[in-house]
Amino acid sequence: MEIYFAPMEGLTDSVYRRGHHKYFPGVDKYYMPFISPTIHRSLTEREARELPYADTECFTAVPQLLTKNAEDFLWAAQQCADRGYKEVNLNLGCPSGTVFSKGKGSGMLRDPDSLKRFLDEIYASAPLPISLKTRLGVEDPREFETLLEIYNRYPVSLLIIHPRVRKAFYNGTVDMVQFEKALAESKNPICYNGNLCAKEDIHSFSAVHPAVGSVMLGRGLIGDPGMLSPNGTDAKTLLAFYDELLEQYTRLFGGPRNAMFRLKENWRYLLCRFENAEKLGKRLKKSTDVNEYRAITHEIILNCPMRKQLAPDW
Ligand SMILES: Cc1cc2nc3c(=O)[nH]c(=O)nc-3n(C[C@H](O)[C@H](O)[C@H](O)COP(=O)(O)O)c2cc1C
Repeated sequence: MEIYFAPMEGLTDSVYRRGHHKYFPGVDKYYMPFISPTIHRSLTEREARELPYADTECFTAVPQLLTKNAEDFLWAAQQCADRGYKEVNLNLGCPSGTVFSKGKGSGMLRDPDSLKRFLDEIYASAPLPISLKTRLGVEDPREFETLLEIYNRYPVSLLIIHPRVRKAFYNGTVDMVQFEKALAESKNPICYNGNLCAKEDIHSFSAVHPAVGSVMLGRGLIGDPGMLSPNGTDAKTLLAFYDELLEQYTRLFGGPRNAMFRLKENWRYLLCRFENAEKLGKRLKKSTDVNEYRAITHEIILNCPMRKQLAPDW
């Protein structure tokens, strides 16, 4: 079973991926948060930084594109190919209001005819294998029947299914009944994504679904970054990882304040790895001073007992 790190905008950027791989190896591929190509046919400074040449990294990463315009997709896919990537992923799942209302991300699922025209164009001339990351639909999981018929027409290198509809965002239970139907009927290889938060979750999933070759983890791996490493998430390595992230982001953002705000996003998921950390967590949330941030996070990592496994509160 291959294990992939989910793309997470604001969390799994290039700095995070490098640090994670260095301190906690075990991920087979890192999917990158989306890039939105535009008509301007150039990458912004930030996009270029976030899309480093593939051979400058010592792990496999896959760029993700968010667009409903086939020409923009093909232009950006060529940029990815030129930088040495071997796969490009299309975002068909982003539920955010602004993305959805522009007909991108999960917004592409509401108009199957347009989706088909888009896929016709990109699969006809893409310079790289294309994987898809999709939800079950917009409102009703049964929408997936039509969507799967469409996906089955193309050589999708990997169909990553997050078995929720758009209106569920990331909340509530995942729809395993629809997922299993998809598994039975897909002509393309499938990767499962959703709510896997511990090694045991992965083992149980793979025992029930031996035919699924890969799973993708998001929030669970942010919260328990060493889940896949032989020693698990030990305090010493976690501290070194987060100290290095703070240093790297401080350099990148030109100061520690923005670096701290950036890392507080990760703590949203990391905090529930620890017992008795609620009070410190509240102080951390309010903190606007980097020295205080450092003191609180060190105290959590060094003094709060780590749980046996993550206790997700999402
Ligand atoms: C803060 C945040 C940012 C995300 N950014 C992206 C993204 O850029 N592209 C994408 O396809 N999915 C994105 N996702 C969805 C995740 O990749 C994943 O599908 C979702 O978190 C469910 O998996 P999990 O239960 O393992 O976390 C994001 C999710 C969250 C919570």
